[in-house]
Amino acid sequence: MATNEELLRSFYSASGRGDPGAASQVFADGVPPVSLRPLPENVRPEAREFVAAPGERVVVLGDYRVGGEAVPFVHTWRFAGGKAVDVADVHDSARLQALAAGDDDGGLREMATGFMSAQVLHAAVETGVFTALRHGPLDGERLRRRLGLHQRGARDFFDVLAALGLLERRDGLYANTPLTTAHLSDTEADSYLGGLLEFIGSHWYWSWGKLADALRTGRSQSYGGVFPYDAIQADPELAERFQRAMFAASTALRAAIAGGFEWERVGTVADIGCADGSLLARLLSAHPHLRGIGFDLPAGAPGFHRTVARHALEDRTRFVAGDFRAAPLPRADALLFAHILIDWDDDSRHMLLAKAYQALPEGGTILIVDTLVEGTRGAESAAGLLVSLHMLVDQRGGPSYSAEECFGWLGKAGFRDCRVRPLSGFDRLVTAVK
Ligand SMILES: C[S@@+](CC[C@H](N)C(=O)[O-])C[C@H]1O[C@@H](n2cnc3c(N)ncnc32)[C@H](O)[C@@H]1O
Repeated sequence: MATNEELLRSFYSASGRGDPGAASQVFADGVPPVSLRPLPENVRPEAREFVAAPGERVVVLGDYRVGGEAVPFVHTWRFAGGKAVDVADVHDSARLQALAAGDDDGGLREMATGFMSAQVLHAAVETGVFTALRHGPLDGERLRRRLGLHQRGARDFFDVLAALGLLERRDGLYANTPLTTAHLSDTEADSYLGGLLEFIGSHWYWSWGKLADALRTGRSQSYGGVFPYDAIQADPELAERFQRAMFAASTALRAAIAGGFEWERVGTVADIGCADGSLLARLLSAHPHLRGIGFDLPAGAPGFHRTVARHALEDRTRFVAGDFRAAPLPRADALLFAHILIDWDDDSRHMLLAKAYQALPEGGTILIVDTLVEGTRGAESAAGLLVSLHMLVDQRGGPSYSAEECFGWLGKAGFRDCRVRPLSGFDRLVTAVK
């Protein structure tokens, strides 16, 4: 008698050549193959792997083939007395249908309308949906009133947030998901990402709307043509919002930086462009022997001092207000440049690395954190390439660079022993020694 696997091999072979009569021989009499819906003419199942499972079951991994495209499936078959009595079929049915109907756009429409989902998220942060649900679920009408929204869009808005997995909807009540509870409901939490999303949803969204203009002219379309940091300096409210965004943007880096380097070799570290000082505070809290200097433009001072006070680090930390385009860098055993070089053009990068070399003692270390691109500039560099375009359209900085390019600049400035290692997310840590 044929084994279950052999029966299935005949089934897939018959289905593949379009012979439903022969294929149906696998089923027990009186068991119509209802759970395997009839396939459109142009779809052929192709088995890749047969895995025997307990209880006379066989799991088959394979692909539905439509022309040159493949939609993976998992078929779980159950046998009794040498015939199939049941089969469960799991696959992306929407994609298979679209392919079979010749209506597949390869995700183009989804990519083109991705901004709609993004704006739903930004609007939810801006209107306070996740913070309103912080203390528990609310029904739609209460939530609408609490946020001051018009009736026309509120229900669609809450339901699409649920459909996108950003809210849970149960028994007519809306609640945060574990994700939005962790990152968007508590503005005081260390893991709160709302400050960054607010900045992206307003500033970045606006400037990216001008991408084609930036590509034509090669110029940033933001901040009225002045350097972004000059505009931020001139506007204390904007400086506060920028610091909140940087605090959220460095959440993963904060978690990684303390264990990402051999800090026991360092006495004093200066964080160049320290923003609100939260990175330095995390570092000093994790390494009680360390002393820290925060260096940034003067508008950064109030936020920095608040952070230092919150972590009770006043006796080990000081803030140095300065403009690194004009002033020397503070002296320290290690200088940290987190998300700084990416903001500037190559000439400024050379200038900063030369100043870092002057500020460090013999044997001192420079640490550079940025989202890098690979030399091949392939799919693995997508994040770095998008950052590079962001620097063009929004910041007047960039372009993104590879570790090898950075090693070249460091060598030119006099550094030796250049290394790169992964740090967190897309960030890499480049280190070099004077
Ligand atoms: C992209 S943020 C990075 C903040 C922080 N290091 C981080 O990784 O989250 C750049 C920082 O550089 C500071 N900065 C910009 N231009 C500067 C200048 N000319 N002198 C000193 N700091 C500057 C900004 O104020 C800002 O805090």
